[in-house]
Amino acid sequence: MAMIDTRYETHEHDVIVVGAGGAGIRAAIEAAEQGLRVALVCKSLLGKAHTVMAEGGIAAAMGNVDPADNWQVHFMDTMKGGKFLNNWRMAQIHAQEAPDRIRELELWGAVFDRTPDGKILQRPFGGHTYRRLCHVGDRTGLEIIRTLQDKAVHTPNIDVFMECTISHLIKNGDEVTAAFGYWRETGKFVLFKAKAVVLATGGIGKAFKVTSNSWEYTGDGHVLAYDVGADLIDMEFVQFHPTGMVWPPGVAGLLVTEAVRGEGGILTNSKGERFMEKYDPARMELSTRDIVAKSIYTEVKEGRGSPHGGVFLDVSHRGADYVKRRLPSMYHQFKELADVDITTGPMEVGPTTHYVMGGVKVDPETAQSTVPGLFAAGEVAGGMHGANRLGGNSLSDLLVFGRRAGMGAATYAKGVASIPAVDEAAVQRAIAEMVEPFERKGENPYTIHQELQMMMQANVGIVRIDADLRKAIEQLKRIQERAKTTSISGSVTYNPGWHLAKDLKTMATISEAVARCALQRTESRGGHTRLDYAEYDPYWSTVNSIVRKNADGSMEVTTAPLPVMPEELKKLFEEEKR
Ligand code: FUM
Repeated sequence: MAMIDTRYETHEHDVIVVGAGGAGIRAAIEAAEQGLRVALVCKSLLGKAHTVMAEGGIAAAMGNVDPADNWQVHFMDTMKGGKFLNNWRMAQIHAQEAPDRIRELELWGAVFDRTPDGKILQRPFGGHTYRRLCHVGDRTGLEIIRTLQDKAVHTPNIDVFMECTISHLIKNGDEVTAAFGYWRETGKFVLFKAKAVVLATGGIGKAFKVTSNSWEYTGDGHVLAYDVGADLIDMEFVQFHPTGMVWPPGVAGLLVTEAVRGEGGILTNSKGERFMEKYDPARMELSTRDIVAKSIYTEVKEGRGSPHGGVFLDVSHRGADYVKRRLPSMYHQFKELADVDITTGPMEVGPTTHYVMGGVKVDPETAQSTVPGLFAAGEVAGGMHGANRLGGNSLSDLLVFGRRAGMGAATYAKGVASIPAVDEAAVQRAIAEMVEPFERKGENPYTIHQELQMMMQANVGIVRIDADLRKAIEQLKRIQERAKTTSISGSVTYNPGWHLAKDLKTMATISEAVARCALQRTESRGGHTRLDYAEYDPYWSTVNSIVRKNADGSMEVTTAPLPVMPEELKKLFEEEKR
């Protein structure tokens, strides 16, 4: 049995930010600019965040290309895209503040593509009425992270802790006062004490077999929040991006940016039919992601798929120069990984698990969760996108609400006189849980993870039915039990199997939340398609799903009424109808 050093080092800051994608870095900059000492803790290396996977652009009603665009239209598009389950206030703040966040990024050094007269260029994307996506070719997320990273390292008072996983939050009474974790490299334990904690950990895609998500996306922040009693909302809403690579198998799921369709890409089936004519003749390929993904699913299911189980996406009619200039990453991705030249012919694509709309329930103004001292922003937070997110709205979400979370956490921390005491018994329980896999004989976590992914893909995937969801919930119970008994060999140094032993429990918990919310919502809406309840149900238009942890450790899944939209915003939709 490995000898494990159970001592831990301690750090003290006013605010801890867990996660260094766009939301986390933006939150850290804001809190530091408010004069607070900030720890920015990243599971990976700074700058290597999943934010880079939002390739095609960032949505903001700048009106540079289509002057009629404004925040009201962006707000309405977002609410319609989310099938009106969005928190209206988050959608309003997002639409109003996104242009300022873009201008700020530009001041910090982001180099966007330009219109001939020198303004930031904007391209079309699904569900956006106007050309609204500011972009840098098809590397927009990368440019945003590069800019934020540069700004953060030049902002005083931010200490960056890289390759460090936070495994537990620690409370003092009702308030979150510390984050406990381990260094991925050495396996040594570390405790971050603080007055406030911001979660910016991204999504849950690694619970599914086919995903565009990178290895970090194991639902950490969702479950850290849930474990300390925070409410999660709308966990049934998982976004299957319509276009991931389907071949070769080693790269199946890798994102094919929506910018391909934004730049005129055409979807066809094996009969050469432009099938979006059947499903959304008005918007065609620029329909919302939920609709395009389901359309592709239907074409394949009904036998009109491509040789590797997808459909064809072709942008070659735009010409080689145009494609290479506007979609350079896609050109290289297909050339290098699939030996396909997208300037001369089609690519094969199919749906891939991309984003979770559900997440930690937050206050729209401050991004505070239902637990004092705990804030959340970006993909880990719920509410903003309702039942389906529009492409490009995640990059603007993470800047708008990353800033608000940093500000909210800073304001909260300023009201706390000194760094609160930490419950040592809770720290020791966290250490005991982390050490356990070395002390028992059990299954290999990799085997169980694979089973979890296959099971979620098959039963809680793009289309769902009652029997499959019940089967999933039963199987998840068993997976959760097995995940508690995994065993690990070797030491804590560079041991990804050990990391997975903890991540597996996290993924099994968040998968239960997704499956149980999906069972509860007996209708189809946005990213949640029930073959046995194929229509919208008026009752389900009025409630969000809520997940919380009971005192006995069991999961409670219930509903809460949607916040009521004020009359002046309702009027926007009424006026549009006239
Ligand atoms: O398709 C894309 O470029 C992804 C963008 C997004 O998820 O917002």
